[in-house]
Formats: sequence, C-alpha cells, structure tokens
Amino acid sequence: MKYSLKTAPLDALTTDCLIATPAAARRIVTSQGQTDYWDAVSSDFADKPGRVLLVNLPKGRRSRVRRILLVGAGADELCPADFRKALLAVGTALKSAPVREALLAIDAFRVAGYDAYQKTRVALTLLSTQLYRFDAPKRDTAEDANGTRLTRVAIAAGARSRRQVGTAVRHAQALDAGLELTRNLGNRPPNVCNPSFLAREARKLARHDKVRCRVIDQRDLAEMGMGAFNAVAQGSDTPAKLIVLEYRGAPAKEAPVVLVGKGITFDSGGISLKPGAAMDEMKFDMCGAAAVLGTLAAALQARLPVNLVVLVAAAENMPSGRATRPGDVVESLSGQTVEILNTDAEGRLVLCDTLTFAERYKPATVIDVATLTGACVVALGAHASGLFANNDMLARDLLAAGEYVWDRAWQLPVWDDYQQALKSNFADMANVGGRDGGAIVAACFLSRFTKKFEWAHIDIAGTAWNSGAAKGATGRPVGLLFQYLLARTGKAA
Ligand code: BES
Ligand code: MN
Ligand code: ZN
Repeated sequence: MKYSLKTAPLDALTTDCLIATPAAARRIVTSQGQTDYWDAVSSDFADKPGRVLLVNLPKGRRSRVRRILLVGAGADELCPADFRKALLAVGTALKSAPVREALLAIDAFRVAGYDAYQKTRVALTLLSTQLYRFDAPKRDTAEDANGTRLTRVAIAAGARSRRQVGTAVRHAQALDAGLELTRNLGNRPPNVCNPSFLAREARKLARHDKVRCRVIDQRDLAEMGMGAFNAVAQGSDTPAKLIVLEYRGAPAKEAPVVLVGKGITFDSGGISLKPGAAMDEMKFDMCGAAAVLGTLAAALQARLPVNLVVLVAAAENMPSGRATRPGDVVESLSGQTVEILNTDAEGRLVLCDTLTFAERYKPATVIDVATLTGACVVALGAHASGLFANNDMLARDLLAAGEYVWDRAWQLPVWDDYQQALKSNFADMANVGGRDGGAIVAACFLSRFTKKFEWAHIDIAGTAWNSGAAKGATGRPVGLLFQYLLARTGKAA
C-alpha cells in the first residue's frame, strides 16, 4: 500500500473514494452542490461504529469526489476499540469496492486518548492488515473479479494536525513494508521458503549500504559448538543456516539491540512426530524469523538511528535416519548440556545457541521472537502474544509499545519455581518439562542462556497467523517491535 499526506482543504481534493464521517461527508457534498441527492441516499444510515455505506455521487461540474465511503462514528468521541471497529469495517468495504485510490479524512475522527499521530498510525496499520493480499499462484482469482485493487491511500490533514499526521504516514509506510515482507515470508509454502530461501531474502535486505549480511552454514554451526542447533538441523536434507544481519544506524560505540527469530521453516516434530491434523500450519513456524526480518525492513525504511543485529535461526525439523532421538544428549554453545526428551521442542534448541551467539555483540538488549509453544495459545489465544523478560523496564516498554499500536502482548512470569520442571538425570537440563505452564517452562529454558544481557522473549504461537478460512500470516509482532524501536530512538511523535 502506498500512503501519502494531503494538506489541501478537503473540498479542493480529488479522489475516487472519500472515507469520512457523516458530518465531514455532508460538508464536501454541499461544496459540490449535491446536498439534496446526498440527504436522500444517506438519510437511513445508522451512524454507529462498524457501519459503513458506499455511495456513488452523481457526476457534476464541481465534483471532485466520485464516491464516499460513509463511516459510522457516532456524535461523540470514539473509544479506541470503536475506532478500530469503524476502521475494520472500512477495510472490509474497500476490499470489494472498485476503487484504486482513496482519501481518508482523518481529522473527522475523534478518538479518546489518541492524538493525530496515534490515530493515523492505528488507522493505517489496520488498513495494511485488512487490505493485504498474498499473491498466491492461483488461476482462479474470483475474489477480485472486478479487477481493481486499492493500492494508494491518501490522508488529508488540516493545518493543526499535518505535522503529526505527516510523521505518522512516514512511519506507517515503513511499517507497511515490514509487515508485507513478514506476511509474504510466512505465507510462502515450506518447499519454497526453506533456510536457504530465508538467507537469500536476508541478503536482499543487505543491499542497503548500512547493512551487512553473513550466513553461517550448518557445517560451521556444528564446528562452532552449536550442538543444540545442530541436533535439530541434522534430521533434514535441507541444510540449516544461522543468518546474521547487522544494521549500523547509530555510532559504532552504541551497543546494539539484537533481535533473534525462530526460523523453523517446517516443524514436523521430528521423531516425536506431530499428529497430522493442521500440520500444514507448521510452515508458519518461521514467523519469528519473518518478524525480525520485517522489523529490520521497517527500521531501514524509517532510517531509525539504532544499531540493530538480526539473528535468524533457520532449520527444518524432520524425522529421518539421521534425526535426533528422544534421549539424545547434546552440548550447547554455552557449554551446558541438554537431554532432548522431545524432538518437537526444537525451537528452544535452535534459539538457545543463537542467544549464546548474541553475547559476542555485547548487546544493550536482546529480544527473541518465536512460535514457541502450543501452551501459549492455550493461555492467551490469538489476541495477545506472550511476553517474558529478565528485566521489568524492558517488559514495560514492550508492553507499552504493543498497546500503542494495538499489537498487544501480555506478560507471564519467568520465576525460578518453574525451573525444576527441566531437571534431567543425564544432562544439565531436559528440553521439556511436563504439560503444566508449558509456555513459561519454555521461557525458563531460554533464560538459562540469557544471563549475560537484558532479554525478552515473545511467544507468538497464537498471534503470528490465522487459521481457518482466513488462514495466513498476520505480520505480528512487527508493529510492536517497530514501535518499541521508534520509542527507544525518541522518534515517536
Ligand atoms: N512450533 C511448535 C509450537 C506451536 C504449536 C505453535 C502449535 C503454534 C501452534 C513448537 O515447536 C512445539 O512443537 N512445541 C511443543 C512443545 C512441547 C513438546 C513441550 C508444543 O507446544 O506442543
Ligand atoms: Mn515443535
Ligand atoms: Zn516449532
């Protein structure tokens, strides 16, 4: 989606489709001399959040607006939830409307507690999400039978809000690029999107002059001592990769933020094979990797003044004659040994070595993002990502960032009490505990590899993709992460 800012008065702007509240719409229609027609067609409109009506306007000498998408907003200020509801309805309507370009009269909406910046950011993120479409290799594209697709949204802002709205449009545009990359990577089939494919995508990001990319091959992983990572990789014919991207957006002396992504391009469970139902969705097990790559893409486009290191642990978890067995003991890069009791708890194995690898950057902060546990889905469902941290200030900042852009997370504890579930008679730890508190136990496992830095872990097992009819990657938590970086660099309005 292409966003732009328009600062001319509303009645001087030309558009295929004006998105506006009833009051704002009436003013425009009156300026075009079409008041009678308008009153006739819109009189039954229920002015409530969630209601929309698409009205074609008659052609006239003074008409610059071809259609109006009337958006219910009520007379008062909207609460944030109702604002989202209204914009969701806009997205749905625009998906099937024959328009290529639209103009959003953002000043017409008043939202409790939101300034013009936040209002614009929330609105444009919603539209990005709603209007996203994966270019699937299908011949039957009945959904867009009318052949038109909305590709440009202009935002009209008056003199008082234009500075904030302008900044928001720029940030929303950068985020849109990141979200797009993340969703596309997530949606690609696992025979295409394998570790080498992710490495190629990473190299594309390194075309930027401030980004360097290095890819560590599976042979070298084993040689470097990443026995846990290698244990997952060894069962697959598709070689694993540790992908390293370094973005120098700030002076070299500034410690970097390190983002680590779980990039299991297909998780069959390995020898601890998963049941067949919905196993196809385990192609989404690389959504953590997709999210950290997307966040970098957004940060690059927004030219964020931050040093950012992105580490992607890419591998395929497969059963084979070379695959890891339940009971195998491996030595991690940290020197700690792990008894692999369940080969389906593979995410923590690739992540633990990658987190240890992150130490060499002397990071200011490390955040890992992973579709780590089914237990997190049981705990929080699809609305909140699970957040874990060894530092409360970091947790607070991440929660606030998610709240701000409505890509929310909820904090769960990483208390020592849960660590005993990982006891092993044959190694320093087992890779699984019992069923209870599974998302927390997984975080506790990772916490044993993050003692040397400030760290947070985001479990996106429930939020990274939708199942059912709307099956597809969501792009979460790129919104949260990008907002965190914006706030950290003092760039948020
Ligand atoms: N990728 C899965 C987690 C997952 C499952 C995400 C379902 C989304 C939906 C992960 O690798 C896994 O298999 N975890 C196991 C851990 C268990 C063996 C301790 C799980 O959650 O069942
Ligand atoms: Mn698994
Ligand atoms: Zn997995």
